[in-house]
Amino acid sequence: MLLPEQVKIVEVGPRDGLQNESQILATADKVALIEKLSLTGLRYIEATSFVAKKWIPQLGDAEEVMSAIKRTSGVTYSALVPNWAGFERSLLVHTDEIAVFTAASDAFTQKNINCSIDECFERFAPILTAAKEKNIRVRGYVSCALGCPYAGEIAPLAVARVAKRLYDMGCYEISLGDTIGVGTVNKVNAMLHAVMQVLPTEAIAVHFHDTYGQALINIYAALQLGVQVIDSAVAGLGGCPYAKGASGNVATEDVLYALHGLGIETGIDLKKIIQVAHFISDKLGKPPQSKVTRAWGV
Ligand code: HMG
Ligand code: MG
Repeated sequence: MLLPEQVKIVEVGPRDGLQNESQILATADKVALIEKLSLTGLRYIEATSFVAKKWIPQLGDAEEVMSAIKRTSGVTYSALVPNWAGFERSLLVHTDEIAVFTAASDAFTQKNINCSIDECFERFAPILTAAKEKNIRVRGYVSCALGCPYAGEIAPLAVARVAKRLYDMGCYEISLGDTIGVGTVNKVNAMLHAVMQVLPTEAIAVHFHDTYGQALINIYAALQLGVQVIDSAVAGLGGCPYAKGASGNVATEDVLYALHGLGIETGIDLKKIIQVAHFISDKLGKPPQSKVTRAWGV
């Protein structure tokens, strides 16, 4: 068994984390969060979402955030885009990359973005075409890859089908989301084996929420299969407002502690991430979700 030598971390805290906080953080604090994250060695930060403000008021200042951040060279600043209107908004503020998102469950896409899986692809097609013309890379998400809050069990083949459609449409990387954190190792293996039949391993990312404390061991299972891209959120922020009970993303600092312990390079300074975890937890007035951050203090 060979683990990867290097792993890319996709930091989703400013987007996936803050979208699910009950309080709306001030724009300046979001900007400070992203700028601090930019100085930790992270190369990829999902900064916000160009979705409807009435559905996700927490990220209603997407333009302001994207325009205000002092960008660090070598760091990619991306954002979620649900439809053409979101794509146009992202262009106006020079978003480096975008991510489109769908799911392996129709029931979930209906609740999340008010359309079926097929309709998602109709919305994405013109976005992918225009993004290609403008040399903007597009990431794709498949939610409910290990279970759906509405439909329950999800077949690995259903995940593979949607992942392949995104890839064939032009998404360079497909992030497989355990949106409600219900997955366990055997399910991760079965799902990844199915996806790896239709996608190159380099194009696969895992995005695990930690509701049942399984995220790290599930990541280890993914690493053993060769996955080299991991989504995580500083301080374990996160969740999906359309998935009741979904808790935070796996904490970036917990992932780094595990990866560095395995001798896997990330290029990220764990201590600096822990400082950012304290910063954002103080701003939100709650203790960091991450055991590593709690153990290490400030
Ligand atoms: P809709 O209601 O079906 O669309 O929303 P609509 O076209 O009928 O528009 C409704 C209103 O929204 C209109 O305004 C539009 O102009 C406006 P009104 O006429 O009522 O004043 N609108 C927009 N405004 C700003 N930006 C836009 C936009 N589009 C329409 N882009 C829509 C469809 C997708 C917009 C809506 O359902 C939405 O925003 N949903 C939010 C979904 C979301 O952000 N979910 C969380 C992220 S996904 C996630 O967390 C999972 C992930 O982390 C992976 C995992 O964990 O599995 C990625
Ligand atoms: Mg998520």
